[in-house]
Amino acid sequence: MPAERTLHVADSTVIVFPDAAAASRAAADRIARVVAEAVPARGKAILGLATGATPERVYDDLAARVKAGSLSFRDVVSYNLDEYYPIQPLDPLSYRYYMHRNLFSRVDLAPNRAHVLDGTVPESAAADHAAEFDRWIEADGGLDVQLLGIGRNGHIGFNEPSELSPAEFAALPTRMVDLHPITKADAVREFGSAEAVIPRALTMGVRQILAARSIIMLATGPKKAPVVTQALKGPITASLPASLLRTVADKVVWLLDEPAAAELG
Ligand code: F6R
Repeated sequence: MPAERTLHVADSTVIVFPDAAAASRAAADRIARVVAEAVPARGKAILGLATGATPERVYDDLAARVKAGSLSFRDVVSYNLDEYYPIQPLDPLSYRYYMHRNLFSRVDLAPNRAHVLDGTVPESAAADHAAEFDRWIEADGGLDVQLLGIGRNGHIGFNEPSELSPAEFAALPTRMVDLHPITKADAVREFGSAEAVIPRALTMGVRQILAARSIIMLATGPKKAPVVTQALKGPITASLPASLLRTVADKVVWLLDEPAAAELG
């Protein structure tokens, strides 16, 4: 099997792997390395986590390392990117449930250190809850690493395409959002029908994502090829949220499989 190759697309570091399994392993390697460095240095590692189809293999890999005894989440604190609103944590479609299924139930992470935005807060309290989420991350010293996926419309977390200026967009805090039509169309896969898709969500803000000390963007499969190319080679614009990662390119790594990299040239 051919080895990985590293590209420099303008200022961005892009590592292309033969397949999604290898790209996911590389993401897990980097997360494990962050834990190994942050815990002795600061007593804890603060991980920003993502849901969706893409990171499932990363969580399998991290869970296998914990089972084998080569990694521990004992000193980890986690913050997830987003959650549908409104939704119950016990709903199998909630991101809280996804995290329970894919990671939290398989590793030694203390339940009170695993933060997922709460899809049950009363609407009148949602803005306070979102602001509190940002304060908790900051009180923990900020994210050591943020794992991201990319939506077909370029969203990161549920920060959807916007007409704001890049500077205004980069300052957005954690908040309630309306999901974009492409995001809702893609969510039919999980929800079963367009009518069943929950159209709103709470999302970590762009500000918090860009403030992470390191960022891993993991994108796999041919459906991501056009948006990955746009984000890396098109204009830096809030109409393609992931393009903002180029404003902090020195701390971002793009981990792609060959199909997702196919249009980079
Ligand atoms: C998930 C999230 C989203 C996804 C993106 C890609 O927490 O914040 O931005 O990362 O929609 O989803 P998948 O991996 O399902 O293609």
